[in-house]
Amino acid sequence: MRIVLVGPPGAGKGTQAAFLANNLSIPHISTGDLFRANISKQTELGKLAKSYMDKGELVPDEVTIAMAKDRMEQPDAVNGFLLDGFPRNVSQAEALDVTLQEESMTLDAVLDLEVPEDEVVKRIAGRRICRNDSAHVFHVTYKQPQQAGVCDVCGGELYQRDDDSEETVRKRLEVYHTQTEPIIDYYKAQGLVVTISALGKVEEVTQRAMDALKRED
Ligand code: AP5
Ligand code: ZN
Repeated sequence: MRIVLVGPPGAGKGTQAAFLANNLSIPHISTGDLFRANISKQTELGKLAKSYMDKGELVPDEVTIAMAKDRMEQPDAVNGFLLDGFPRNVSQAEALDVTLQEESMTLDAVLDLEVPEDEVVKRIAGRRICRNDSAHVFHVTYKQPQQAGVCDVCGGELYQRDDDSEETVRKRLEVYHTQTEPIIDYYKAQGLVVTISALGKVEEVTQRAMDALKRED
């Protein structure tokens, strides 16, 4: 299956993507995680990305599209993938369509996670992620690690993302409404959008998502 996951910052895209990708045996491709991996390795791409991410702005399309395309062309993605955080504006969605057409591939569904804004603010304020792997995500109240400040998966140190400050989160939400939400209409025109509520326990949301994707299959 080829799936795009869309939703505001803090909706739980990364959390759900980990379970869905595992259930569906497809790789989880997160452009945010790819940028963070570049930042921790201090690559040129990482330095460039950080200058935008710290302000809550989108990293320029040219580098983002090239990075996403390169990842989608890896051998583990030939039979499908779950995209998280990409595409994030209409130009990226158009570029993805071109890439898929070149390979005679199509998307199966665009899963839209709906969450009220006060809930995403709470989720982001309490989020802690692992220094070793930003896919290891916890929450000080909702998903507590067994030992405070330590990753359950790998023992790494948990920290708060630089772009999770209140001011940057406000900017990210604004960017989501103005630049990312229009892709929902873009994909509605292709009949691909399934919207589910992302409220409730993590496993309840995963079940809701799996049920919705089965209906699309
Ligand atoms: P990115 O990393 O994609 O961040 P985001 O879209 O803002 O999403 P988040 O990672 O903040 O949230 P999430 O929905 O994954 O929530 P999570 O599962 O962690 O992008 C960061 C930046 O990179 C962008 O601002 C931009 O600068 C750049 N970028 C990335 N892609 C780009 C692109 N395509 N183009 C240009 N620039 C790009 O959950 C949040 C918290 O809630 C966690 O603590 C979790 O434990 C908790 N939680 C999850 N589910 C539940 C639940 N059901 N109940 C209670 N708590 C829950
Ligand atoms: Zn870890």
